[in-house]
Amino acid sequence: MYNFLMKKLYIETLGCQMNKSDSERIAGILSHFGYEETNLEKEADLLIINTCSIRQLSTDKAYSKLGVWGKRKKSKPDIKIGICGCVAQQDKEKIRQRAPYVDLIFGTHNIYELPTLIKRVEADEKVCAITSKPVNSNWNDFKILRKDNVNAWVPIIEGCNNFCTYCVVPFTRGRERSRQPEEIITEVKNIIAEGFKEITLLGQNVDSYGKDFNDKNITLANLLRELNKLEGQFRIRFVTSYPSDITDDLINAVDECEKVCKYFHIPMQSGNSRILKEMNRHYTKSEYYEIVAKIRNRFPDVAITSDFIAGFPGETEEEFQDTLNAMEELKLDYSNTAAYSPRVFTKAGQMTDKFISEDIKYERLERLNQKNREVCLKSNEKFVGKILKVLVESKTEKDNIITLNSRADNNKIVHFIDNSKQAGDFAKVKITKAQTWCLYGEPVD
Ligand code: SAH
Ligand code: SF4
Ligand code: F3S
Repeated sequence: MYNFLMKKLYIETLGCQMNKSDSERIAGILSHFGYEETNLEKEADLLIINTCSIRQLSTDKAYSKLGVWGKRKKSKPDIKIGICGCVAQQDKEKIRQRAPYVDLIFGTHNIYELPTLIKRVEADEKVCAITSKPVNSNWNDFKILRKDNVNAWVPIIEGCNNFCTYCVVPFTRGRERSRQPEEIITEVKNIIAEGFKEITLLGQNVDSYGKDFNDKNITLANLLRELNKLEGQFRIRFVTSYPSDITDDLINAVDECEKVCKYFHIPMQSGNSRILKEMNRHYTKSEYYEIVAKIRNRFPDVAITSDFIAGFPGETEEEFQDTLNAMEELKLDYSNTAAYSPRVFTKAGQMTDKFISEDIKYERLERLNQKNREVCLKSNEKFVGKILKVLVESKTEKDNIITLNSRADNNKIVHFIDNSKQAGDFAKVKITKAQTWCLYGEPVD
């Protein structure tokens, strides 16, 4: 395909890393059909929004973007508009009503149907492809247009079986499906050959990897061991872990494998056991504390990050304080925080008589954020004087000084100056200064 024949594709991606990875695959598939990605919305022939419905705010963003694009289509009727991702999977009828001008709606299970869908869109058909199970998941048949040059995302398991009562993901992503280890290993080999230096294995629940196969040897721990054997200088991460699914074998594998980062993202959601039960999380506060203690004992420089929700239905002030205390007592290195947002289909979304007022929810969120900042700073201060192994991700130039932006194995952001290094290089850095969200240091040999 010659360049002057290429059509321009603009994809806007909301939501989690799984969505970002999906967008790279969507752009890759469409590149086989003459579409070239652009960063400029205005020059696009095909506009796609890859949506997230985890909270109302992210859902609202999707509809407001569709509105903007709908207006543009009035003056440029030839442009095509597409919507995919978690809002599309749930809201087919609503999208048709609110945005009848949309040309293409496809669900999270229908990405690999794009080769046929796009031809129908080009023939001016209004197309909608949403199924409850995956269609044609022949992952490695298409290019992947990765956005980053250093880190590559590799989904290993999709979907979720946990049905936390607040969460929409099991409804938008379906039940857990693991990819075959051989397929993952082939993708990772290609990534390393292309020069990427970091592989992030993705899953809504990565430590469930392989449970849907009949072979007990297919586990996240064994996958890490296999990937660790591959030649080359690169490192491996995995997100997100479900607290009670972290096995001793996984911790052993992280310890054994020198390429695997000593970093765990383990959302706790609440520091109170009653609320955890109401959330249908399968662990108590003390069980979570035990898991954190076990990991910290094994890996001295580990970072453990988490997610918390403020104002789950029925949460009392005392119960909320257990969350603040947990953040502090567990010395969590960083947490994502959010005010509870009611979602359709979910159990908690129906507990309307127990909903907490917006004022209280946001006031609790503010205190949660304040505590997060305090504990993050304390966690960062612990690293002053230590030497961390980092991978350079990018550089920033200001007043003729080039600062390297890097990430340590434990996921801490580290800034340092070293004119001999560039993005994709590993380095050892002695930490000299800590701030709330990042560290500063000097290179050492
Ligand atoms: N699989 C991961 C989380 C995926 S969703 C896990 O089990 O922890 C990412 C985060 O969004 C969750 O950890 C949760 O903190 C937040 N979240 C999910 N549903 C939410 C809701 N209804 N309101 C507010 N935050 C929510
Ligand atoms: Fe959502 Fe719970 Fe599944 Fe995480 S484990 S994706 S929070 S249902
Ligand atoms: Fe959002 Fe869907 Fe991810 S709801 S967080 S984009 S799985």
